Amino acid sequence: MKIISVVGARPNFMKIAPFIRAIEKYNLSLKKSIQHILVHTGQHYDVRMSEAFFTALGIPNPDINLEIGSGSHAEQLGSTMIAFEKVLLEHKPDWVVVVGDVNATLSCSVTAKKLNIKVCHIEAGLRSGDMSMPEEINRLVTDRLSDLLFTPDILSSENLITEGIPRERIQFVGNIMIDTLELNRGKAKKLEIEEIINNNLIPGCRYAGVQSVNNAYTLMTLHRPSNVDSKKVFGPLIEFLLTEATKNLKLIWPIHPRARKQLKTFGLWDSVIDHPSIILLEPIGYHEMLRLNMGARIMLTDSGGLQEECSVLGTPCLTLRWNTERPVTLRKHGGVSVLVGNNIERIRKEFFHTLMLKRNPSRPKLWDGHTAERIVKIIIA
Ligand code: UD1
Repeated sequence: MKIISVVGARPNFMKIAPFIRAIEKYNLSLKKSIQHILVHTGQHYDVRMSEAFFTALGIPNPDINLEIGSGSHAEQLGSTMIAFEKVLLEHKPDWVVVVGDVNATLSCSVTAKKLNIKVCHIEAGLRSGDMSMPEEINRLVTDRLSDLLFTPDILSSENLITEGIPRERIQFVGNIMIDTLELNRGKAKKLEIEEIINNNLIPGCRYAGVQSVNNAYTLMTLHRPSNVDSKKVFGPLIEFLLTEATKNLKLIWPIHPRARKQLKTFGLWDSVIDHPSIILLEPIGYHEMLRLNMGARIMLTDSGGLQEECSVLGTPCLTLRWNTERPVTLRKHGGVSVLVGNNIERIRKEFFHTLMLKRNPSRPKLWDGHTAERIVKIIIA
């Protein structure tokens, strides 16, 4: 059997690592060989956004890199489809495996289906209901086209059934990201927080690095266009961080290239980098992020993956969105997150309330570290 699997952007890498490892294990144990080809579309290309994760998670170098880079959505999708079609015509795989909800997920599943190649989607069935999110469009199209849909939780399976996807295509296998978390948490735990800060601090950051953060810090990540692309939204959030959130706690912020660019465009960069309690870091590695998450008093994020990691680690989390495609992470479903959107009143109220909450790890069904093995078994069958 020949499988081509596809990655494109940072959140894909922690999902593909366990899948590749499970294929290697299968090949070793049964002395059979699944022929596997890894394609990177090259949507994320900075060392810190891409290569560093391959090294840290032991992912083999991509066999093929399409090097599509940045661009508008149409540009990214179009360039990927043109380049990926050539790969498929040359290698003729039995299956194309896509993960998550980035532009690579959509463009490669459409290209494969047009050539009558079977598609398997890992992390299927997630729905935010928000069609202004590029990722929601990617999820809907990919799931509609996929022959085999692996869901991380029961709510996602139910979404697919409601949409009329035949039940025999849907397989509830658990969350593959948690395979990566479980495999790497021991290594992450050994890292020193101060060392992570010193190794990744953005030059010019006023935080001197000589004071200790003493586990009294907020951890934040932001990258969604809905939060960072408009000054009307981003400005007041920065103001809240500068004046209120940092009164008694340090703020550690590994900054995404999109957020960094927008801070500069809106003239907000200097006030952030000059603030003594804001620790601005370059994008950090997987283990570094896991370590900072383990020690944080509170997480502020608009990332889907971090909401899930917070659940398993128990870090109280404010999700800076009005909706989530991952409702199992919410407090009302037993998780640790609460949706706060980008309304400052609401963020303030929940921030100070959440600071009083204790860590409370929760583990949805089958988030047990063995999802990838289940997936490979099913594909083979
Ligand atoms: C993409 C994904 C999103 C995912 C996020 C994680 C889609 C539609 N979005 O959004 O689902 O949560 O990645 O990071 O696929 N840039 C760099 N260096 C890089 C990569 C990007 O500087 O290595 C810059 C780009 O030039 C661009 C900006 O960052 O200006 C945004 O990159 P882009 O790939 O368009 O989308 P993300 O916002 O990262």
